[in-house]
Amino acid sequence: MKLFIDTANIDEIKEISDLGIIDGVTTNPSLIAKEGRDFKSVVQEITSIIDGPISAEVISTDAEGMLKEAEDLVQIHPNIVIKLPLIEQGIKATSILSKKGIKTNVTLCFSPMQALLAAKAGATYVSPFIGRLDDISHDGPQLIRDIIEIYENFDYPTEVIAASIRHPIHVLEAAKARSHIATIPLKVIKQLFNHPLTDIGLEKFLKDWKTMK
Ligand code: E4P
Repeated sequence: MKLFIDTANIDEIKEISDLGIIDGVTTNPSLIAKEGRDFKSVVQEITSIIDGPISAEVISTDAEGMLKEAEDLVQIHPNIVIKLPLIEQGIKATSILSKKGIKTNVTLCFSPMQALLAAKAGATYVSPFIGRLDDISHDGPQLIRDIIEIYENFDYPTEVIAASIRHPIHVLEAAKARSHIATIPLKVIKQLFNHPLTDIGLEKFLKDWKTMK
């Protein structure tokens, strides 16, 4: 499973990039707004740190506007992936972009049938939001399992990005469900390292080592 970091914060991306475990980055308008910086320059800076797919989201709600934004965004770097909302106009724009060979990430996916539409439109990626489903007492991880089953049934090449990840169990569920990718906030990536027995074990090894003559 590929790991993306879900942030637009340059310091966070720099901090994690050295570990060699991050395959790409996803941003969204809320994450960009949090940085209080120009959208294009943030995205450009991200492309200089991570050599992998970088999702940049359009904010238009009509296909024509989305395509115009996409045209502009793809000029930034060949790794840019155009992120579009899973609405009729977004699917229309996705179909047009995929026919042109432009990579797309269809976002705000909350049902298997929405994911089917994204695959039909030739999306490179689809982003089911599992945390936001859990937030309203739905089974987020089940959505990943359903989408993977459907995509495997028909050999759709669209890759699933498990998104809106809130804790390590979401990452575990995504991996067990054969999600191609999980996009994870820095805090949760750090939690993946933790196990008390690792800390206790290391402390004991180092203590024992010191007793050697
Ligand atoms: C992914 O593409 C989204 O940007 C993100 O995962 C949404 O996460 P949230 O529900 O924590 O805002």
